[in-house]
Amino acid sequence: MSESSESVKRKKITTRTFQQKKARGEPITVLTAYDYATALAVDLAEIDAILVGDSLGMVVLGYENTLPVTMDEMLHHCKAVARGAKYPLLIGDMPFMSYQVSVEEAVRNAGRFLKEAGMDAVKLEGGRERVPVIEAIVAAGIPVQGHLGLTPQSVHQFGGYRAQGKSAQAAKRLLEDALLLQEAGCFSIVFETIPTRLGRLISERLEIPTIGIGAGAACDGQVLVSHDVLGLFERFTPRFVKKYADLHGEMVRAFAAYNSDVTSGRFPTDEHSIEMPDEEWEALTALLDD
Ligand code: KIV
Repeated sequence: MSESSESVKRKKITTRTFQQKKARGEPITVLTAYDYATALAVDLAEIDAILVGDSLGMVVLGYENTLPVTMDEMLHHCKAVARGAKYPLLIGDMPFMSYQVSVEEAVRNAGRFLKEAGMDAVKLEGGRERVPVIEAIVAAGIPVQGHLGLTPQSVHQFGGYRAQGKSAQAAKRLLEDALLLQEAGCFSIVFETIPTRLGRLISERLEIPTIGIGAGAACDGQVLVSHDVLGLFERFTPRFVKKYADLHGEMVRAFAAYNSDVTSGRFPTDEHSIEMPDEEWEALTALLDD
């Protein structure tokens, strides 16, 4: 397909598209990306949305968890993604402590994702305690995606990365939180690591699209971390991940082959080298002989 016929056919995905897809029962696809090259590939694969997740901290920056990630780090990577992706809805993840201190600070930080970094929406973690912040950000004209269940910024409060909503009481609270987030104006909510039948129940009760990660097939859409999908993050692989490639293995293989080629003299060859015209070379030797 030529680029012009492609642009006629494809339309920018918006929060409205999310809603329309839910109404039509069409699954919504979301992947994370943190750089220009990945954003280009995710866009070409016609994925609906890119989440520049704060998982950045773990899979790209090598932090132990997502807590150290800063606004500056997030904005830096969001900008790179925005340069590469044209059609997907772009969602910037608000890092730990960028929206918890005050409503005013939360609105200002959310605004930076759109104003400085080319994002279309923001995501933030938490339930009923986030309602005032979500209302204020939405009132500023910024679409907000909620995030419930295993919210990684609360890892210490949970005592580890544990599935959430497994007891009747916890499940009821999660559903209540979801309804409150919807009422506060979220355009969609991510549900992470919750039981499949709870994912189904919540998706049926909510009017806004649910995006699951370890929340079962009945959610209105799915999100995965691109480094998990590509087999690029080796530290651990959650049960809900489906690995579609082993790029870590491929990288090691390619780097080792390069190492071996250089050390054995097989690289570079004439094919990878440039030469001076003979007359210029002769002129140089004459100059040096003077
Ligand atoms: O940061 C992230 O990548 C996320 C997804 C796991 C939903 O929040």
